[in-house]
Amino acid sequence: MSDLTARFRKLWDEIAPIGRDAGSGGYLRYALTEPELLLRGWFRDQAEQRGMPIIEDGNGNLFAWWGDPDAGDAVLTGSHFDSVPHGGAYDGPLGIVSAFLAVDELRESGVTPARPLAVGAFVEEEGARFGVPCLGSRLLTGALPAERAAVLRDADGVSFAEALGHAPAGARPELWGRFRSFVELHVEQGRALADTVAPVAVASAIWPHGRWRFDFRGEGNHAGTTRMADRRDPMLTYAFTVLAANKEARLRGAYATVGRVSVEPNATNAIPSRVTGWLDARAAEPEILTGLVEAVHDKAVERARRDGTAVTLTEESATPLVAFDGGLADRLAALLDAPVLPTGAGHDAGVLAGHLPTAMLFVRNPTGVSHSPAESATDADCAAGVAALARVLAELTC
Ligand code: GLV
Ligand code: MN
Ligand code: MN
Repeated sequence: MSDLTARFRKLWDEIAPIGRDAGSGGYLRYALTEPELLLRGWFRDQAEQRGMPIIEDGNGNLFAWWGDPDAGDAVLTGSHFDSVPHGGAYDGPLGIVSAFLAVDELRESGVTPARPLAVGAFVEEEGARFGVPCLGSRLLTGALPAERAAVLRDADGVSFAEALGHAPAGARPELWGRFRSFVELHVEQGRALADTVAPVAVASAIWPHGRWRFDFRGEGNHAGTTRMADRRDPMLTYAFTVLAANKEARLRGAYATVGRVSVEPNATNAIPSRVTGWLDARAAEPEILTGLVEAVHDKAVERARRDGTAVTLTEESATPLVAFDGGLADRLAALLDAPVLPTGAGHDAGVLAGHLPTAMLFVRNPTGVSHSPAESATDADCAAGVAALARVLAELTC
């Protein structure tokens, strides 16, 4: 095992037990809940050990600085700690652990950056607790108004402002304006690298994507006494809509997923009065995505007419196509001799890319599985990711 691989494993082991569910082996690291707060404590310790003072942005995002934060023209790297329910170990934390190790690599090789370098931890990237993905980066850059974020509520009714302990600060242009570029390292979430010799790739783009809530309303009634012909069952409309989403996505070469559903009253012997399903949809082009969601909605409305139910559609978040800075991606791909890939997954880098030159590095994932306990990367590939990130940071801070 190389030194760097051993160092990766040692640091990785420090956070590996935090928030892991013994049953599934996956992670329950929701933003600002105990496990994520422990990870933030770990972040502070790591920063302190390296003499990196922390700036909090008032939105839940943390930045640890090597060099003078007031000097401007800084390079930012980092990712997020939060997970989806029973998510994998790597999605997010790999970018933060790798960032601290890359700082160590630079220091050991005697590199003194000519500009400040910051390691960031963004809050609520997955949107698993408050429903809006990349909440922290959207707040920091002003893409989401603070008043709207403050009142987002989790499943227990706790608002984002309550979880944060104060009203979010909202846009901080004087803070993100200090960054000249952002590089987020992330586990790959597909199999594009799995059968190649490349442990690391550079991102070219993020597909446009979003989350839409379908509320289906019908008439709650008795399962044993209501004649089939008399029912107004929103579960039927919901089920048809899920199948329609799958079909319409396949027809367009797009992706559609309904991975979350809530039913009222959720009783085995009662026809539901209401079903809510969340559609996650993604496509290579914005027009394809819009056409997909419209087609699914049209089919839901038509089916609701037949079922005697009602359906409403609410857009909960939308992320436009992100084309990462082409010059930067080409420069990093040449530096690392790495392939360049698009992705359908969302990232804080996609939000920051609207404001500053931004790049992403992907670390090979042997199964391609992500948002699942089975997500994986070898220690050797993670070490290769750290080495690549260190080279990139050396290049961008010189
Ligand atoms: C975040 O990982 C997303 O793509 O939903
Ligand atoms: Mn994710
Ligand atoms: Mn992620």
